[in-house]
Amino acid sequence: MEILRNFVVFEGGDGSGTSTQIALLGQRFADYCRETPVFFPTAEPTDGAIGVLIRSALKKDPILKPDTLARLFAADRGEHIYAPDGIYERCKRGELVVCDRYVLSSLVYQGIECGDALPRSLNAPFPAPELLLFFDIEPRIAQERLRSRPSLEIYEHLAFQEKVREQYHAQLGSFRSAGVRVEIIDASHRMEKVAEEVWSHLSKMPIFE
Ligand code: TMP
Repeated sequence: MEILRNFVVFEGGDGSGTSTQIALLGQRFADYCRETPVFFPTAEPTDGAIGVLIRSALKKDPILKPDTLARLFAADRGEHIYAPDGIYERCKRGELVVCDRYVLSSLVYQGIECGDALPRSLNAPFPAPELLLFFDIEPRIAQERLRSRPSLEIYEHLAFQEKVREQYHAQLGSFRSAGVRVEIIDASHRMEKVAEEVWSHLSKMPIFE
């Protein structure tokens, strides 16, 4: 598996705070690192055509079969990585790309829904990140955070999120063995403390030397 240098991925169950942390990181870059490296925050599903369709399907409009969703997530990812000015090109030219969710989300969520084989084969061609931060949190606490949302998506219920957490823990080891630096963050802390921990891991990357 190719490890893509300068590529960082945030992973975690729903409500684990990954999006908030990417926003806080953006703020830190704006305040302190205006010139180098260039910081490119991004997320999956993307806001491209396939990602928009996925977002609708997550709200059951339309209702899609789990294996269709697995294929859509992988197709969205293929564009995200390899399109001109995509993740691959940016990392290769020395930008720091931080992505909210990536291959491991498919292995975990679609793995639960349609078994391991399909998401594994669909995602096998994609490069792995240099650093993977897993935001670990008790699903019950994460569900509390989601309560204020106007409507919940198809995976946002406690029984599913318990399986999600279990699967994340089960699958992190294979990324470590493949040479990815994996760090587990206690995401139940207040967001400022989590942000410091995120920064302590990121700032050790060779791109900052
Ligand atoms: P978000 O809540 O982080 O915006 O992600 C949207 C949902 O999509 C979340 O429940 C996780 C799910 N998801 C997958 O099931 N497979 C994937 O490959 C990705 C990227 C997200």
